[in-house]
Amino acid sequence: MSEIEKGEFEHFMLKEIHEQPEAIRKTLAGRIKDGRVDFPDLEFDNVFKNTGKIIIAACGTSYHAGMVGRLVIEKLARIPVEIDLASEFRYREVLWNPNDLVIVISQSGETSDTLAALREARHNGIKVLAITNVPGSTIAQEAERVIYTHAGPEIAIASTKAYSAQLLIMYLLALYLASLRDSYNPVELEGLANELLGVDAMVESVLQEQQHIKELAEKYHKVQSIFFLGRGLDYPVAMEGALKLKETSYVHAEAYATGELLHGPLALIEQGVPVLTLISQDKLVDKSMSNIKEIKARGAVVLAICKENLQEHCQECDEKILLPRINPMLAPIVAVVPLQIFAYYMALFRGNDVDKPRNLVKSVMGD
Ligand code: AGP
Repeated sequence: MSEIEKGEFEHFMLKEIHEQPEAIRKTLAGRIKDGRVDFPDLEFDNVFKNTGKIIIAACGTSYHAGMVGRLVIEKLARIPVEIDLASEFRYREVLWNPNDLVIVISQSGETSDTLAALREARHNGIKVLAITNVPGSTIAQEAERVIYTHAGPEIAIASTKAYSAQLLIMYLLALYLASLRDSYNPVELEGLANELLGVDAMVESVLQEQQHIKELAEKYHKVQSIFFLGRGLDYPVAMEGALKLKETSYVHAEAYATGELLHGPLALIEQGVPVLTLISQDKLVDKSMSNIKEIKARGAVVLAICKENLQEHCQECDEKILLPRINPMLAPIVAVVPLQIFAYYMALFRGNDVDKPRNLVKSVMGD
C-alpha cells in the first residue's frame, strides 16, 4: 500500500495515528548510537556550542511540539529558550543577540507566518535551524540548516504522526546539545537516549486502548465543551489535545495549565462539565490532584489520562485511560496518543468530515 492510500483505515487521520510507531522509528533511525545522539552531516556544532539563547517559532500543533522542546532543552542543555507563536513573532521587538539561534518547526515547511519568522531572523543575521517533514519545502530551502522529521506524507489536516516525529526531534536535539555542552550527567543522557529507542513500543501499547477510547467518545460526543488540564510537561499535551478536539469535532475545548484553574476558569465548572486531565508527571501528581478535587467538588466529570503507576491517585476520576510506565520527561510522546484517538472518534460520532474539517487547510499560506 502506498503512503497516500487509506488501506484498511476509514480515514487518513486514523491511519496516520497508527503510523506513529513507524514515524518514530524512522525519525530515530541512525540518530542514536551507543547511547549518544548524533545528527550526521548537520555540521552545526560551532553554532550549538556558542548559542546563548534559543527562540522557537511555530504555529498550531508544531508550536505545541516547540513548547515541549523548550522544557526539555532548558532542563538538559541549560540554554534559555523563548517560544513564540510564529503568527505573533513579527509583531514584537525581538532583542537579538548575535549568538541567538532561531528554531522554526513546520510540518509542511510552507506556513507563511513561520517562514516570515525565519526570514526576520535571517534578515537580522541570526542563524536558523528548521525542523520540517517536507524536503525541498520553502522553509527547508531558506533555513541555514534543516533537521528532517521522517514521518512520511501526512494527508489528514489534523496533524498526528508529524507531531510525534517533531517531539522526537525535540528530545534528540536536547540530548545532543546537552552532551555537546556538557551540561547534564552523561550517564543520565545515555539512559534517556536508550529509553527513546523504546518509545515506539510504548506508543504501540497505547494504540491498543483504541476500543476503550472509542467507547468514551461515544459516551461524551454530545457535550458542548471540554476543558483540558495539564501541569509541567502535561500542559503542552493538554493544549495539543484541545486543538485536536476543536479542529476535528468542532467541540469547544480549552486547555489550561492546571495551576491556572483557580485564577478564573473555575467559575466555568458546574455540574456535568467534562474536564480531561493529564497525569503523567510523578512529582506533580499530588499538586494536580488537589486541584482536581476542587473541580470534582463542583460537579465536573473528570476524565484522566493517567500513567499506570499513578492510577491510585486518580481514584476519584470518573474515567481513566492508562498510559504505560514511562520516564516522565518522555511522557508527552505517549500521552498525546489517546487524545488524538479521542478527537478522531468524537469527530466521527458527530458526523464530521474527519480528514478535511470545515474551514481548514493543511498549510496556511499567504499573508
Ligand atoms: C494541526 O492539527 C493543524 N492542522 C495546524 O495547527 C498545523 O499544525 C499548523 O497550521 C502548522 O502547520 P505546519 O506545521 O505545517 O507549519
